[in-house]
Amino acid sequence: MYQHINKILIIVAVALLAACNQKVDNPRQVESFNKGWKFFLGDTADASKVSFNDADWRALNLPHDWSIEGEFSKDNPSTTEGGALPTGIGWYRKTFKVDSVPQNQKYYIDFDGVFCNSEVWLNGHYLGKRPFGYITFRYDMTPYLNFEDKENVMAVRVDNDAQPASRWYTGSGIYRNVWMVTINQVHVDHWGTYITTPKVSDEAAIVNLEVKIKNNQNAAQQLKVKTELYDQNNQVVAQDEKSVSCKDSLCSIAYDFTVNHPVLWSIENPYMYTAVTSVYNKKELIDQYETPFGIRYFEFDSAKGFFLNGQPLKIHGVNQHHDLGALGAAVNTRAMERQLEILKGMGCNAIRMAHNPPAQELLDLCDQMGFLVIDESFDEWKKTKAKKGYHLYWDEWHVRDLQDMILRDRNHPSIIAWSIGNEIREQFDTTGISITRELAGIVKELDKTRPVTSALTEQDPKKNNIYQSGALDLISFNYKHKEYLDFPKNYPGQKMLASENMSALSTRGHYDMPSDSMRIWPSAYNAPLVGANDDYTVSAYDHVYAYWGATHEDTWNVVKNNDFISGMFIWSGFDYLGEPIPYPWPARSSYLGIIDLAGFPKDAYYLYQSEWTDKTMLHIFPHWNWEKGQDIDVWAYYNNADEVELFLNGKSLGTRKKEDGKFHVMWRVPFEPGTLKAVSRTDGQVVLEKEIHTAGEPYKVELIADREVINADGTDLSFITVKIMDKDGNMIPDADQLVHFDIEGNGFIAGVDNGYQASLEPFKANYRKAFNGMCLLIVQATEEAGDIKITATTDGLKNGVLTLKSK
Ligand code: GAL
Repeated sequence: MYQHINKILIIVAVALLAACNQKVDNPRQVESFNKGWKFFLGDTADASKVSFNDADWRALNLPHDWSIEGEFSKDNPSTTEGGALPTGIGWYRKTFKVDSVPQNQKYYIDFDGVFCNSEVWLNGHYLGKRPFGYITFRYDMTPYLNFEDKENVMAVRVDNDAQPASRWYTGSGIYRNVWMVTINQVHVDHWGTYITTPKVSDEAAIVNLEVKIKNNQNAAQQLKVKTELYDQNNQVVAQDEKSVSCKDSLCSIAYDFTVNHPVLWSIENPYMYTAVTSVYNKKELIDQYETPFGIRYFEFDSAKGFFLNGQPLKIHGVNQHHDLGALGAAVNTRAMERQLEILKGMGCNAIRMAHNPPAQELLDLCDQMGFLVIDESFDEWKKTKAKKGYHLYWDEWHVRDLQDMILRDRNHPSIIAWSIGNEIREQFDTTGISITRELAGIVKELDKTRPVTSALTEQDPKKNNIYQSGALDLISFNYKHKEYLDFPKNYPGQKMLASENMSALSTRGHYDMPSDSMRIWPSAYNAPLVGANDDYTVSAYDHVYAYWGATHEDTWNVVKNNDFISGMFIWSGFDYLGEPIPYPWPARSSYLGIIDLAGFPKDAYYLYQSEWTDKTMLHIFPHWNWEKGQDIDVWAYYNNADEVELFLNGKSLGTRKKEDGKFHVMWRVPFEPGTLKAVSRTDGQVVLEKEIHTAGEPYKVELIADREVINADGTDLSFITVKIMDKDGNMIPDADQLVHFDIEGNGFIAGVDNGYQASLEPFKANYRKAFNGMCLLIVQATEEAGDIKITATTDGLKNGVLTLKSK
């Protein structure tokens, strides 16, 4: 739904213009440039030349990540742990025609992100190089384009060979969208609008808009620039028109709008407006540019934490890397939307973009779905973390990359802070002082409406050079939550946020007893793992964490009960590829998420749901298939109730109430098969009941789609949960059957997964082993509408069958 709002606005805006007898077509054309590419994995001479023969190359559409298609190997050098998916060098070529005869036109190519070190040629002419894999960039194609019947060849070399380039999985290739923009020589500049809301109240909001017009003509231009602000009902709520004589190559216009009785952007009601700016030369419409925006105000308070629109709001955040599990880094809007939906379900209201500029579609979704965002630029400055990381490009590129991130992102209402770095080594070096000042200065020149922060590890103010720079507006700390209590004393008058916490570890559906003994894995730098599991699993009770981290409960207890802490960001929301702490190869993806790589929640998800949502809930775990007589710890997370009583086969095991500072209750139960039932109550009245049963023999495969009707647009996805069930409808908690998928009709398999961190099976396959009872099938729509029939088979069990509709 969210994606369509802008389109509707354009249609309405165009219709309104038509009604006023104006030229109706928007002269600005933004077309997807994703289709019809050829790809070659490896380096090859002369591929930048027009005459090069790419007939044998593989045909594909973007976005594309070649790493996710590869095989895991211990010898792949990417990520600092070693053991990973392949990286290397790849080439892309696209042959295309431009129908129009140029009339005062400019032709740009916009790359949302290429990992990494991309170099681009058009018809043999070098357009440029961009090392940073997370930055969005544009080239002017106009001087080198051929028109009408003549062909054009674009060639892109992507070099992700020098490894390790990152501490986590990056993906490789043109992994974000590419756009061709055709516009008048005179147009709203790239990222050429800046909208702010300096005064907001329930009665009225002042909305300032700066528009930069690029004049590529030699002569001065007499322009009329009209801007209309549309609300979500497509009503114009304010408008203004300015005349400008644009003599130079760049000129600016500023508007001061008043919006009466504005609907404020918030987490619950993320209300978006759109500014539509139309540029006229005499009566001719020569450009039209849209700026979606929200009206809201916020502040961080040193004593009381974060406020949105004057109301206190604890930030319930997660850190997210950019990979989309089995889809790798290849951007897919539905996959990102699904992640956000799952996070919303546990009460998450904020995302820290760890540790790099995200896809612009993700920021759009955060605006539209109501998430606060910390937008972060770098994981490294000049000093090394990953051997071949960003420090190699720092001197030449950091100014441009940071500027471009701010210019691209500053109109998003979701963004509440700019983070200039994560755990930067210069904290411990006096160069940190000057670099922090420089970076904060770059940000402030482009946006003064949001605080500048940096995620710090050193909490002693005297020892932290980034803090000593005096250039941070907001002090963010990663980990060591107990030291937060000294913050008001050590940092008088400063504002504080917990940017990274926990690094708690777990594998979905795996439980080690007893649950009340802590496992600190690893217990210190380079310490051997004691008591680890042979199958590379980690228990999913909240009792395992890395030595720099802590349990979910202990951390949340401190954040919850101290108003000066604006909020926290769990490391991490979803498991991600790379960083398989605490295990070595063949573990290959992280254990740090509260949701596994396939998108299945682990138990800690429900802890947050009980604390962060009002939705009445009760969650008990583990499963109920154990050895007879074994002592099993049963935990419950619950809310909106005073207490919970547990029954085993009808017999009460007692009633428990959460103790102060604890967010779960527990019973130690000698196992006997049957039914475990929990009942939550308030004042003796039943609030909720939950049962789990000992599962019997595997009987069938069950398929549950997150959406049974999807769009026939070539990109939409249905995420299908695959469960191995007994005949009474219980999932088999340790089922590991190999499931085969057969797809008929207008869809194909985009990926498979099961969330197991040490699985070396491929993500692009028509089979997957279940892990702890489940696996995931991701089906992608083609561009043809129709049915998509899915059959899931496994030896000896009843097939799972499901038909999706693609419209
Ligand atoms: C943090 C770091 C994250 C991630 C995490 C793993 O120190 O900022 O990027 O590496 O540790 O626990």
